[in-house]
Amino acid sequence: MADKRLTTSVAIIGGGPSGLLLSQLLHLNGIETIVLERRSRDYVLSRIRAGVLESGLVALLEEARVAERLHREGEKHGGVEIAYRGESLRVALDELTEGDVVTVYGQTELTRDLYEARDAMDGVVIHEADNVQLHELDATSPFVTFDRGGETTAIHCDFVAGCDGFHGVSRSMLPAEIIRPFERVYPFGWLGVLSETPPVADELIYAGHDRGFALCSLRSRMLSRYYVQCPLEDNISDWSDDRFWDELRSRLPTDVANGLVTGPSIEKSIAPLRSFVCEPMSWKRLFLAGDAAHIVPPTGAKGLNLAASDIHYLFRAFVDFYKDDDEGGLQAYSEKALARVWKAERFSWWMTQLLHQFPESSAFDQRIQQSEFDYLKSSHAAQVALAENYVGLPY
Ligand code: APR
Ligand code: PHB
Repeated sequence: MADKRLTTSVAIIGGGPSGLLLSQLLHLNGIETIVLERRSRDYVLSRIRAGVLESGLVALLEEARVAERLHREGEKHGGVEIAYRGESLRVALDELTEGDVVTVYGQTELTRDLYEARDAMDGVVIHEADNVQLHELDATSPFVTFDRGGETTAIHCDFVAGCDGFHGVSRSMLPAEIIRPFERVYPFGWLGVLSETPPVADELIYAGHDRGFALCSLRSRMLSRYYVQCPLEDNISDWSDDRFWDELRSRLPTDVANGLVTGPSIEKSIAPLRSFVCEPMSWKRLFLAGDAAHIVPPTGAKGLNLAASDIHYLFRAFVDFYKDDDEGGLQAYSEKALARVWKAERFSWWMTQLLHQFPESSAFDQRIQQSEFDYLKSSHAAQVALAENYVGLPY
C-alpha cells in the first residue's frame, strides 16, 4: 500500500533530455505531467554526451521555449570533415542540403536549460525516486509507484512515458510475447577526453586510420572534446593524458595533428558502442522514447536527435488525444517513430563501419572500407547522402 497518492495525466519515467523535453512541451499545451528521476539533479547534469543538434531538434526546442541560450552560445556548423588514412574530405553540409546545418551545443547545457525551464513553470520533477514500478498498463488508469525518504508514493495517471534510458525499467514492462529486440554490440569503445584547450579545427573531424578511429569535437572556443577508438578491456588508468594525445595525433592527418593544442584532461571516460532497437515502442498505455527504446553508436551523433524525433511524434499524439479526443497519433506512434529510428540506425552503423578498425577485419574488408571512402570522396551523390543524414532526415 502506498503512503501517498498523486494524480497526473502523463507520468514520465526518467529526467534526461527525453523526459524533460516531453514534460515541458506537454505543460505548454496544458497537459499535466510528473517526472520521476532515479538520480540527483547534480548527477544528471554531470553526464557528458555528444552535442550536435539537428535543425529539427532546434525547432522543437524553440517550440518548447528553451532555445534562447542555445541560439546565443551554440555554433552553427555548415560542414564536417571526414579523414581517412591521411586523406581528407570536407562535406559541405549547407551546400549539399540546400542550406541545412547542425548546431554544436553540449547536451549537458541543453539538459540544464530544460531543468531551468521546468523550474520556471513549476514543473514537477521528483529526483532520487527509488524502486520505480509501473502497474496496470493495460487498464485505462495505470499507476506508478516509487520510494523516496522512507515513503511509498503512487502516481495515478492516464499514460506512462518510458524515458528512462537504456538501463531503465520501462522497456521491461512490454510482455515477452510482443517485444522484439535488435542488437549489435561493437568490439571496441570510445575513450573521450574533455580539455580546456582551443579546438584543433572550427568544424568536427571524423578520422579513420589503421590505428583506429579518432574524433575532434568541441564545446566552445576554449573547450575541446576528443575521442579515440580503444579496446573494450582498456581502463582509464591505462591512458595517461600524454598517451591519449600521442595516440590522437597519430591518427589525424599531419596538418591537423601539427595544430593540436594539448592540455590536462578535465574529464576522461570510456564508452562502449552499441546499436539497439526495441520493437514495438509502445504497448497499451506505455510509450517508450529515446534511449529507453533505441541506442546508436555515437558516430554521427544521432542519440539525442533520435530522442527528439520520438518526443516530437509523442507530444503531438498526446495533444491530439487531450485536445481532440483523437487516439490516432498514439496508435501510430510506434510505427512512425521506428521508421525514422531505423534510418538513423543505418546511418550510425554505416559511419561506424566506414571509420573504425574491426579486430576481425580481413584484407578484403580493408579494401572495401578504402573504396567506400574513395567513392565518398569522388561522388557528389554519396556526399549528398552523407550530408542529408548528418543534418537529420525530416520528421
Ligand atoms: N527510474 C527513474 N529514472 C530512471 C530509471 C528508473 N528506474 N532508470 C533510469 N532512469 C533515468 C536515468 O537516471 C536518466 O537520467 O532516466 C534518464 C534517462 O536519460 P538518458 O539516458 O539521457 O536518455 P534520454 O533522456 O532518452 O536521452 C537521449 O540519447 O544517445 C543518447 O546521449 C544521448 O542521453 C542522450 C539520449
Ligand atoms: C561530441 O562532441 O561529444 C561528439 C560529437 C560528434 C559525435 C559524437 C560525439 O558524433
